[in-house]
Amino acid sequence: MDIRQLFLGDQLNQEVCIRGWVRTFRANRFIAINDGSCLANMQCIVDFEQVSEEVLAEINTGAAVEITGTFVESQGKGQKYEIQASNINILGVSNADDYPIQPKKHSLEFLREKAHLRVRTNTFGAVMRVRAALSFAVHQYFTQSGFYQVHTPIITGSDAEGAGEMFRVTTKDPEQNDDKPDFFGKETNLTVSGQLEAETYAMGLGKVYTFGPTFRAENSNTSRHLAEFWMIEPEVAFNDLEDNMDLAEDFIKSVLGYVLENCKEDLGFLDQRFAKEEAIKPEIKRSPMGLLERLQFVTQNQFKRVSYTEAIDILRNSKPNKKKKFKYNVDGWGIDLQSEHERYLVEKHFTSPVIIFDYPAEIKAFYMRMNEDGKTVRAMDVLFPGVGEMVGGSQREERLDRLVERMKSKDVDLKELWWYLDLRRFGTAKHAGFGLGFERLVLYTTGMSNIRDVIPYPRTPLSAEF
Ligand code: 4AD
Ligand code: MG
Repeated sequence: MDIRQLFLGDQLNQEVCIRGWVRTFRANRFIAINDGSCLANMQCIVDFEQVSEEVLAEINTGAAVEITGTFVESQGKGQKYEIQASNINILGVSNADDYPIQPKKHSLEFLREKAHLRVRTNTFGAVMRVRAALSFAVHQYFTQSGFYQVHTPIITGSDAEGAGEMFRVTTKDPEQNDDKPDFFGKETNLTVSGQLEAETYAMGLGKVYTFGPTFRAENSNTSRHLAEFWMIEPEVAFNDLEDNMDLAEDFIKSVLGYVLENCKEDLGFLDQRFAKEEAIKPEIKRSPMGLLERLQFVTQNQFKRVSYTEAIDILRNSKPNKKKKFKYNVDGWGIDLQSEHERYLVEKHFTSPVIIFDYPAEIKAFYMRMNEDGKTVRAMDVLFPGVGEMVGGSQREERLDRLVERMKSKDVDLKELWWYLDLRRFGTAKHAGFGLGFERLVLYTTGMSNIRDVIPYPRTPLSAEF
Protein backbone atom coordinates (compact mmCIF):
# COMPACT_ATOMS: atom_id res chain seq x y z
CA MET A 1 0.00 0.00 0.00
CA ASP A 2 1.48 3.38 -0.82
CA ILE A 3 1.65 6.11 1.77
CA ARG A 4 -0.56 8.50 -0.18
CA GLN A 5 -3.39 5.94 -0.16
CA LEU A 6 -2.86 5.25 3.54
CA PHE A 7 -3.27 8.94 4.36
CA LEU A 8 -6.84 8.72 3.03
CA GLY A 9 -7.49 7.03 6.39
CA ASP A 10 -9.54 4.00 5.33
CA GLN A 11 -7.12 1.50 6.90
CA LEU A 12 -7.42 2.91 10.41
CA ASN A 13 -6.61 0.38 13.16
CA GLN A 14 -5.75 -2.31 10.65
CA GLU A 15 -2.48 -4.05 9.98
CA VAL A 16 -0.67 -2.46 7.05
CA CYS A 17 2.65 -2.84 5.29
CA ILE A 18 4.63 -0.06 3.65
CA ARG A 19 7.92 0.06 1.78
CA GLY A 20 10.03 3.13 1.34
CA TRP A 21 13.24 4.94 2.21
CA VAL A 22 14.24 6.17 5.64
CA ARG A 23 14.35 9.95 5.83
CA THR A 24 15.19 10.21 9.54
CA PHE A 25 15.44 7.96 12.59
CA ARG A 26 15.17 9.78 15.93
CA ALA A 27 15.63 8.66 19.49
CA ASN A 28 15.76 4.98 18.49
CA ARG A 29 12.00 5.30 18.21
CA PHE A 30 10.66 7.43 15.35
CA ILE A 31 11.34 6.46 11.73
CA ALA A 32 10.11 8.82 9.01
CA ILE A 33 9.51 6.85 5.83
CA ASN A 34 8.94 8.31 2.39
CA ASP A 35 7.94 6.19 -0.59
CA GLY A 36 7.63 8.98 -3.17
CA SER A 37 3.87 8.63 -3.52
CA CYS A 38 3.38 11.97 -1.78
CA LEU A 39 5.27 14.68 0.03
CA ALA A 40 4.45 13.60 3.57
CA ASN A 41 6.47 10.96 5.38
CA MET A 42 4.83 8.20 7.37
CA GLN A 43 5.96 8.15 10.96
CA CYS A 44 6.60 4.68 12.27
CA ILE A 45 6.98 4.03 15.99
CA VAL A 46 9.51 1.41 16.94
CA ASP A 47 9.57 -0.48 20.17
CA PHE A 48 13.36 -0.77 20.30
CA GLU A 49 13.28 -3.52 22.89
CA GLN A 50 11.54 -5.73 20.34
CA VAL A 51 14.04 -5.03 17.55
CA SER A 52 17.49 -6.53 17.31
CA GLU A 53 20.61 -4.37 17.62
CA GLU A 54 21.63 -5.29 14.06
CA VAL A 55 18.37 -4.09 12.57
CA LEU A 56 18.40 -0.86 14.63
CA ALA A 57 21.93 -0.16 13.38
CA GLU A 58 20.76 -0.46 9.79
CA ILE A 59 17.87 2.00 10.02
CA ASN A 60 19.90 4.81 8.46
CA THR A 61 18.87 7.70 6.26
CA GLY A 62 18.52 6.39 2.72
CA ALA A 63 18.00 2.72 3.60
CA ALA A 64 15.11 0.88 1.94
CA VAL A 65 12.81 -0.74 4.48
CA GLU A 66 9.58 -2.68 4.75
CA ILE A 67 7.52 -1.97 7.83
CA THR A 68 4.50 -3.87 9.04
CA GLY A 69 2.34 -2.61 11.87
CA THR A 70 -0.93 -1.11 12.99
CA PHE A 71 -2.09 2.06 11.30
CA VAL A 72 -3.38 4.37 14.05
CA GLU A 73 -4.22 7.97 14.77
CA SER A 74 -1.05 9.68 15.93
CA GLN A 75 -0.56 10.45 19.60
CA GLY A 76 2.04 13.08 18.83
CA LYS A 77 1.89 16.45 17.17
CA GLY A 78 2.90 17.00 13.59
CA GLN A 79 1.09 14.14 11.88
CA LYS A 80 -2.42 12.80 11.79
CA TYR A 81 -1.56 9.11 11.49
CA GLU A 82 1.33 6.81 12.29
CA ILE A 83 2.23 3.14 12.23
CA GLN A 84 2.98 1.18 15.38
CA ALA A 85 5.63 -1.05 13.88
CA SER A 86 5.55 -4.73 14.68
CA ASN A 87 8.11 -5.85 12.15
CA ILE A 88 10.96 -4.09 10.35
CA ASN A 89 12.63 -5.66 7.37
CA ILE A 90 15.74 -3.95 5.98
CA LEU A 91 15.53 -4.30 2.19
CA GLY A 92 18.64 -2.35 1.27
CA VAL A 93 21.16 -0.76 3.60
CA SER A 94 22.57 2.74 3.20
CA ASN A 95 25.88 3.62 4.74
CA ALA A 96 25.26 6.70 6.86
CA ASP A 97 28.72 8.15 6.23
CA ASP A 98 28.55 7.83 2.45
CA TYR A 99 24.93 8.72 1.66
CA PRO A 100 25.03 12.27 0.28
CA ILE A 101 21.40 13.24 0.96
CA GLN A 102 21.46 13.97 4.67
CA PRO A 103 18.43 15.32 6.53
CA LYS A 104 19.53 18.95 6.23
CA LYS A 105 19.30 21.69 3.64
CA HIS A 106 21.47 21.03 0.59
CA SER A 107 22.10 23.64 -2.08
CA LEU A 108 20.46 23.07 -5.47
CA GLU A 109 23.92 23.21 -7.06
CA PHE A 110 25.12 20.37 -4.83
CA LEU A 111 22.01 18.34 -5.60
CA ARG A 112 22.51 18.81 -9.36
CA GLU A 113 25.69 16.79 -8.99
CA LYS A 114 23.68 14.07 -7.25
CA ALA A 115 20.84 14.11 -9.76
CA HIS A 116 20.36 10.34 -9.37
CA LEU A 117 19.49 10.78 -5.70
CA ARG A 118 17.99 14.26 -5.54
CA VAL A 119 14.48 13.01 -6.23
CA ARG A 120 14.58 11.65 -2.67
CA THR A 121 14.41 15.19 -1.28
CA ASN A 122 11.16 17.03 -0.53
CA THR A 123 11.84 19.72 -3.13
CA PHE A 124 12.61 17.42 -6.05
CA GLY A 125 9.90 14.95 -5.10
CA ALA A 126 7.38 17.81 -5.20
CA VAL A 127 8.74 19.27 -8.45
CA MET A 128 8.72 15.93 -10.26
CA ARG A 129 5.21 15.01 -9.10
CA VAL A 130 3.95 18.42 -10.29
CA ARG A 131 5.80 17.88 -13.58
CA ALA A 132 4.04 14.52 -14.04
CA ALA A 133 0.66 16.08 -13.21
CA LEU A 134 1.22 18.88 -15.73
CA SER A 135 2.11 16.33 -18.38
CA PHE A 136 -1.12 14.43 -17.69
CA ALA A 137 -3.08 17.70 -17.77
CA VAL A 138 -1.64 18.52 -21.20
CA HIS A 139 -2.87 15.25 -22.69
CA GLN A 140 -6.21 15.58 -20.92
CA TYR A 141 -6.74 19.13 -22.18
CA PHE A 142 -6.07 18.32 -25.81
CA THR A 143 -7.88 15.00 -25.80
CA GLN A 144 -10.98 16.60 -24.30
CA SER A 145 -10.77 19.42 -26.83
CA GLY A 146 -10.80 17.01 -29.77
CA PHE A 147 -7.09 17.06 -30.66
CA TYR A 148 -5.14 14.01 -31.77
CA GLN A 149 -1.59 13.49 -30.59
CA VAL A 150 0.90 12.92 -33.41
CA HIS A 151 4.36 11.47 -32.97
CA THR A 152 6.62 13.49 -35.23
CA PRO A 153 10.12 12.24 -36.08
CA ILE A 154 13.03 12.85 -33.75
CA ILE A 155 15.60 12.37 -36.49
CA THR A 156 14.89 14.79 -39.32
CA GLY A 157 16.51 16.26 -42.39
CA SER A 158 14.95 19.69 -42.00
CA ASP A 159 15.71 22.68 -39.84
CA ALA A 160 12.25 23.96 -38.99
CA GLU A 161 13.40 27.10 -37.25
CA GLY A 162 16.13 27.98 -39.71
CA ALA A 163 18.38 28.88 -36.81
CA GLY A 164 20.90 26.15 -37.58
CA GLU A 165 21.49 25.21 -33.95
CA MET A 166 21.24 21.47 -34.46
CA PHE A 167 22.85 18.25 -33.28
CA ARG A 168 24.03 16.20 -36.26
CA VAL A 169 23.00 12.54 -36.42
CA THR A 170 25.50 10.40 -38.26
CA THR A 171 27.00 6.91 -38.26
CA LYS A 172 30.14 8.17 -39.94
CA ASP A 173 33.38 7.93 -38.03
CA PRO A 174 34.99 11.37 -38.14
CA GLU A 175 38.42 9.72 -37.94
CA GLN A 176 37.78 7.72 -41.10
CA ASN A 177 37.56 9.74 -44.24
CA ASP A 178 35.70 7.13 -46.27
CA ASP A 179 33.33 7.83 -49.10
CA LYS A 180 30.62 5.45 -47.96
CA PRO A 181 27.25 7.20 -47.79
CA ASP A 182 25.92 8.06 -44.36
CA PHE A 183 23.18 5.92 -42.79
CA PHE A 184 20.26 7.88 -44.22
CA GLY A 185 22.11 8.88 -47.36
CA LYS A 186 21.71 12.51 -46.41
CA GLU A 187 22.48 14.93 -43.65
CA THR A 188 20.23 14.48 -40.63
CA ASN A 189 19.88 16.03 -37.20
CA LEU A 190 17.87 15.78 -33.98
CA THR A 191 14.65 17.71 -34.32
CA VAL A 192 14.42 21.34 -33.18
CA SER A 193 10.63 21.30 -33.58
CA GLY A 194 7.91 18.95 -34.83
CA GLN A 195 5.96 21.85 -36.28
CA LEU A 196 6.38 21.31 -40.00
CA GLU A 197 5.35 17.66 -39.77
CA ALA A 198 2.53 18.59 -37.34
CA GLU A 199 1.25 21.05 -39.96
CA THR A 200 0.93 18.23 -42.50
CA TYR A 201 -1.12 16.24 -40.01
CA ALA A 202 -3.31 19.20 -39.06
CA MET A 203 -4.17 19.44 -42.75
CA GLY A 204 -5.65 15.95 -42.52
CA LEU A 205 -6.72 15.38 -38.92
CA GLY A 206 -7.76 18.98 -38.27
CA LYS A 207 -6.56 19.47 -34.70
CA VAL A 208 -3.32 17.83 -33.61
CA TYR A 209 -0.59 18.25 -31.01
CA THR A 210 2.86 16.87 -30.40
CA PHE A 211 4.53 16.39 -27.03
CA GLY A 212 8.06 15.24 -27.42
CA PRO A 213 11.76 15.80 -26.90
CA THR A 214 13.38 18.67 -28.74
CA PHE A 215 17.06 19.42 -29.18
CA ARG A 216 18.92 22.68 -29.64
CA ALA A 217 22.65 23.16 -29.72
CA GLU A 218 22.36 26.78 -28.62
CA ASN A 219 25.37 27.68 -26.60
CA SER A 220 23.36 29.67 -24.10
CA ASN A 221 24.25 28.79 -20.56
CA THR A 222 21.24 30.41 -18.92
CA SER A 223 18.75 29.42 -16.26
CA ARG A 224 16.08 29.08 -18.97
CA HIS A 225 17.79 27.06 -21.72
CA LEU A 226 18.34 23.34 -22.11
CA ALA A 227 19.95 21.48 -24.99
CA GLU A 228 17.27 18.77 -24.62
CA PHE A 229 13.80 19.86 -23.61
CA TRP A 230 10.19 18.82 -24.16
CA MET A 231 7.93 20.82 -26.38
CA ILE A 232 4.16 20.77 -26.83
CA GLU A 233 3.09 21.89 -30.29
CA PRO A 234 -0.60 22.13 -31.16
CA GLU A 235 -1.51 22.89 -34.77
CA VAL A 236 -5.04 23.64 -35.95
CA ALA A 237 -6.45 23.79 -39.47
CA PHE A 238 -8.64 26.83 -40.24
CA ASN A 239 -7.39 28.77 -37.18
CA ASP A 240 -6.02 32.29 -37.47
CA LEU A 241 -3.76 34.18 -35.08
CA GLU A 242 -6.63 35.32 -32.84
CA ASP A 243 -7.79 31.71 -32.43
CA ASN A 244 -4.21 30.73 -31.76
CA MET A 245 -3.81 33.27 -28.96
CA ASP A 246 -7.14 32.19 -27.47
CA LEU A 247 -6.02 28.56 -27.55
CA ALA A 248 -2.65 29.27 -25.91
CA GLU A 249 -4.27 31.27 -23.13
CA ASP A 250 -7.03 28.76 -22.48
CA PHE A 251 -4.57 25.86 -22.54
CA ILE A 252 -2.16 27.40 -20.02
CA LYS A 253 -4.99 28.40 -17.69
CA SER A 254 -6.50 24.96 -17.88
CA VAL A 255 -3.32 23.00 -17.03
CA LEU A 256 -2.48 25.39 -14.18
CA GLY A 257 -6.03 24.96 -12.90
CA TYR A 258 -5.54 21.20 -12.99
CA VAL A 259 -2.45 21.25 -10.78
CA LEU A 260 -3.93 23.83 -8.40
CA GLU A 261 -6.77 21.37 -7.88
CA ASN A 262 -4.75 18.13 -7.86
CA CYS A 263 -1.33 18.96 -6.39
CA LYS A 264 -2.34 20.91 -3.31
CA GLU A 265 0.15 19.33 -0.93
CA ASP A 266 3.17 19.69 -3.24
CA LEU A 267 2.26 23.22 -4.34
CA GLY A 268 1.69 24.22 -0.72
CA PHE A 269 5.20 23.02 0.08
CA LEU A 270 6.68 24.78 -2.98
CA ASP A 271 4.80 27.95 -2.04
CA GLN A 272 6.51 28.00 1.37
CA ARG A 273 9.85 27.21 -0.21
CA PHE A 274 9.38 30.02 -2.73
CA ALA A 275 8.59 32.52 0.04
CA LYS A 276 11.72 31.45 1.94
CA GLU A 277 13.92 31.69 -1.16
CA GLU A 278 12.65 35.17 -1.87
CA ALA A 279 13.35 36.20 1.70
CA ILE A 280 16.97 34.97 1.44
CA LYS A 281 17.64 36.11 -2.10
CA PRO A 282 15.72 39.31 -2.80
CA GLU A 283 17.51 39.59 -6.15
CA ILE A 284 15.47 36.68 -7.46
CA LYS A 285 12.23 38.33 -6.41
CA ARG A 286 10.02 37.89 -9.39
CA SER A 287 6.59 38.83 -8.23
CA PRO A 288 5.01 40.55 -5.26
CA MET A 289 2.75 37.53 -4.98
CA GLY A 290 3.36 34.14 -3.44
CA LEU A 291 3.52 31.08 -5.68
CA LEU A 292 -0.05 29.90 -5.19
CA GLU A 293 -1.35 33.43 -5.43
CA ARG A 294 0.31 34.05 -8.75
CA LEU A 295 -0.86 30.72 -10.18
CA GLN A 296 -4.40 31.66 -9.18
CA PHE A 297 -3.91 35.12 -10.64
CA VAL A 298 -2.90 33.63 -13.98
CA THR A 299 -5.89 31.31 -14.13
CA GLN A 300 -8.33 34.11 -13.24
CA ASN A 301 -7.14 37.08 -15.29
CA GLN A 302 -6.93 37.78 -18.98
CA PHE A 303 -3.47 37.85 -20.48
CA LYS A 304 -2.54 41.27 -21.85
CA ARG A 305 -2.19 41.44 -25.64
CA VAL A 306 -0.07 44.05 -27.42
CA SER A 307 1.45 44.28 -30.85
CA TYR A 308 5.21 44.36 -31.23
CA THR A 309 4.93 47.99 -32.38
CA GLU A 310 3.03 48.95 -29.21
CA ALA A 311 5.55 47.05 -27.09
CA ILE A 312 8.43 48.98 -28.64
CA ASP A 313 6.64 52.27 -27.88
CA ILE A 314 6.16 51.23 -24.26
CA LEU A 315 9.83 50.29 -23.96
CA ARG A 316 11.03 53.51 -25.55
CA ASN A 317 9.06 55.59 -23.07
CA SER A 318 10.02 53.51 -20.05
CA LYS A 319 12.35 54.03 -17.13
CA PRO A 320 13.47 50.49 -16.31
CA ASN A 321 15.77 51.56 -13.46
CA LYS A 322 17.40 54.56 -11.82
CA LYS A 323 19.71 55.08 -14.77
CA LYS A 324 16.64 54.82 -17.01
CA LYS A 325 18.51 52.50 -19.32
CA PHE A 326 18.40 48.99 -20.68
CA LYS A 327 21.65 47.17 -21.33
CA TYR A 328 20.49 46.77 -24.94
CA ASN A 329 19.12 50.05 -26.16
CA VAL A 330 15.66 50.05 -27.70
CA ASP A 331 16.89 52.09 -30.59
CA GLY A 332 14.31 51.42 -33.15
CA TRP A 333 11.49 49.44 -34.64
CA GLY A 334 12.78 46.09 -35.86
CA ILE A 335 15.07 45.09 -33.00
CA ASP A 336 14.72 41.65 -31.48
CA LEU A 337 13.41 41.90 -27.92
CA GLN A 338 16.06 40.95 -25.36
CA SER A 339 15.06 39.15 -22.19
CA GLU A 340 15.50 42.37 -20.15
CA HIS A 341 12.89 44.00 -22.41
CA GLU A 342 10.51 41.08 -22.09
CA ARG A 343 10.96 41.03 -18.34
CA TYR A 344 10.32 44.74 -18.09
CA LEU A 345 7.05 44.36 -19.98
CA VAL A 346 5.71 41.44 -17.95
CA GLU A 347 7.19 42.19 -14.54
CA LYS A 348 7.11 45.98 -14.35
CA HIS A 349 4.75 47.37 -16.95
CA PHE A 350 1.90 44.86 -17.14
CA THR A 351 2.61 42.66 -14.07
CA SER A 352 0.80 39.84 -15.86
CA PRO A 353 1.40 37.36 -18.67
CA VAL A 354 1.57 39.20 -21.98
CA ILE A 355 1.06 38.07 -25.57
CA ILE A 356 3.06 40.08 -28.09
CA PHE A 357 1.97 39.67 -31.70
CA ASP A 358 2.74 40.92 -35.22
CA TYR A 359 6.54 40.90 -35.08
CA PRO A 360 8.83 42.24 -37.83
CA ALA A 361 9.22 39.59 -40.54
CA GLU A 362 13.00 40.08 -40.48
CA ILE A 363 13.44 38.58 -37.02
CA LYS A 364 11.00 35.67 -37.35
CA ALA A 365 11.01 32.27 -39.08
CA PHE A 366 10.11 31.74 -42.74
CA TYR A 367 6.79 29.97 -42.21
CA MET A 368 4.93 32.84 -40.51
CA ARG A 369 2.12 34.53 -42.43
CA MET A 370 2.93 37.95 -43.89
CA ASN A 371 0.59 40.78 -42.91
CA GLU A 372 -0.88 43.26 -45.39
CA ASP A 373 1.74 45.84 -44.35
CA GLY A 374 4.40 43.67 -45.98
CA LYS A 375 6.77 44.03 -43.03
CA THR A 376 5.22 42.23 -40.07
CA VAL A 377 4.18 38.60 -39.69
CA ARG A 378 1.37 36.95 -37.76
CA ALA A 379 3.64 35.77 -34.96
CA MET A 380 2.94 35.64 -31.25
CA ASP A 381 5.03 35.06 -28.14
CA VAL A 382 3.51 34.48 -24.71
CA LEU A 383 5.73 36.00 -22.02
CA PHE A 384 5.59 35.10 -18.33
CA PRO A 385 7.06 36.84 -15.29
CA GLY A 386 10.34 35.25 -14.22
CA VAL A 387 10.40 32.86 -17.16
CA GLY A 388 10.23 35.15 -20.18
CA GLU A 389 9.09 33.40 -23.36
CA MET A 390 6.90 30.43 -22.54
CA VAL A 391 5.24 30.09 -25.95
CA GLY A 392 6.20 30.97 -29.51
CA GLY A 393 3.74 30.52 -32.33
CA SER A 394 2.12 31.93 -35.44
CA GLN A 395 -0.45 31.74 -38.14
CA ARG A 396 1.29 29.93 -41.01
CA GLU A 397 1.87 31.26 -44.50
CA GLU A 398 -0.64 29.24 -46.53
CA ARG A 399 -0.10 31.08 -49.86
CA LEU A 400 2.40 29.22 -52.04
CA ASP A 401 3.88 32.25 -53.81
CA ARG A 402 4.40 34.20 -50.58
CA LEU A 403 5.92 31.19 -48.85
CA VAL A 404 8.36 30.56 -51.69
CA GLU A 405 9.34 34.22 -51.66
CA ARG A 406 9.99 34.14 -47.91
CA MET A 407 11.96 30.90 -48.10
CA LYS A 408 14.17 32.35 -50.80
CA SER A 409 14.81 35.53 -48.87
CA LYS A 410 15.73 33.49 -45.77
CA ASP A 411 17.88 31.01 -47.71
CA VAL A 412 15.70 28.04 -46.81
CA ASP A 413 16.22 25.03 -49.10
CA LEU A 414 13.12 24.68 -51.29
CA LYS A 415 14.09 21.19 -52.44
CA GLU A 416 14.48 19.87 -48.92
CA LEU A 417 11.00 21.11 -47.99
CA TRP A 418 9.19 20.02 -51.18
CA TRP A 419 6.58 18.22 -49.08
CA TYR A 420 5.92 21.32 -46.97
CA LEU A 421 5.31 23.28 -50.16
CA ASP A 422 2.97 20.53 -51.41
CA LEU A 423 0.61 21.40 -48.55
CA ARG A 424 0.16 24.77 -50.23
CA ARG A 425 -0.56 23.09 -53.55
CA PHE A 426 -3.21 20.62 -52.44
CA GLY A 427 -6.08 22.03 -50.42
CA THR A 428 -4.24 24.81 -48.68
CA ALA A 429 -6.09 26.72 -45.96
CA LYS A 430 -5.24 29.04 -43.14
CA HIS A 431 -3.88 27.30 -40.08
CA ALA A 432 -1.99 28.20 -36.94
CA GLY A 433 -0.14 26.69 -34.00
CA PHE A 434 2.41 27.26 -31.30
CA GLY A 435 5.14 25.62 -29.27
CA LEU A 436 5.21 25.66 -25.48
CA GLY A 437 8.45 24.78 -23.72
CA PHE A 438 7.32 22.25 -21.12
CA GLU A 439 10.21 22.93 -18.71
CA ARG A 440 9.44 26.65 -18.75
CA LEU A 441 5.88 25.81 -17.74
CA VAL A 442 7.15 23.54 -14.95
CA LEU A 443 9.60 26.27 -13.89
CA TYR A 444 6.82 28.81 -13.56
CA THR A 445 4.44 26.41 -11.84
CA THR A 446 6.90 25.20 -9.22
CA GLY A 447 8.55 28.57 -8.54
CA MET A 448 12.01 27.09 -9.05
CA SER A 449 14.56 29.50 -10.45
CA ASN A 450 16.72 27.29 -12.69
CA ILE A 451 15.42 25.13 -15.55
CA ARG A 452 18.04 22.48 -14.62
CA ASP A 453 16.02 21.76 -11.51
CA VAL A 454 12.74 20.90 -13.24
CA ILE A 455 13.92 18.09 -15.54
CA PRO A 456 15.40 14.88 -14.12
CA TYR A 457 18.68 14.94 -16.04
CA PRO A 458 19.43 18.33 -17.60
CA ARG A 459 21.50 18.52 -20.78
CA THR A 460 23.44 21.79 -21.06
CA PRO A 461 26.75 22.90 -22.61
CA LEU A 462 29.58 20.72 -21.24
CA SER A 463 27.17 18.72 -19.12
CA ALA A 464 25.59 15.35 -19.99
CA GLU A 465 26.21 13.31 -16.85
CA PHE A 466 23.85 10.44 -16.00
O1 4AD B 1 9.85 29.84 -30.06
P1 4AD B 1 10.29 28.48 -30.53
O2 4AD B 1 11.65 28.36 -31.11
O3 4AD B 1 9.16 28.02 -31.54
C1 4AD B 1 9.19 26.90 -32.31
O4 4AD B 1 9.99 26.01 -32.24
C2 4AD B 1 7.98 26.78 -33.19
N1 4AD B 1 8.27 25.76 -34.21
C3 4AD B 1 6.78 26.41 -32.36
C4 4AD B 1 5.52 26.27 -33.16
O5 4AD B 1 5.01 27.25 -33.64
N2 4AD B 1 5.01 25.07 -33.30
O6 4AD B 1 10.17 27.46 -29.31
C5 4AD B 1 8.94 27.29 -28.65
C6 4AD B 1 9.13 27.30 -27.14
C7 4AD B 1 9.72 28.59 -26.60
O7 4AD B 1 8.73 29.58 -26.45
C8 4AD B 1 10.29 28.14 -25.27
O8 4AD B 1 9.28 28.04 -24.29
C9 4AD B 1 10.77 26.74 -25.59
O9 4AD B 1 10.08 26.31 -26.75
N3 4AD B 1 12.22 26.69 -25.83
C10 4AD B 1 13.12 26.21 -24.95
N4 4AD B 1 12.97 25.70 -23.73
C11 4AD B 1 14.08 25.28 -23.09
N5 4AD B 1 15.33 25.35 -23.60
C12 4AD B 1 15.53 25.86 -24.85
N6 4AD B 1 16.75 25.90 -25.36
C13 4AD B 1 14.39 26.32 -25.57
N7 4AD B 1 14.22 26.87 -26.81
C14 4AD B 1 12.89 27.08 -26.93
MG1 MG C 1 10.62 31.75 -29.92
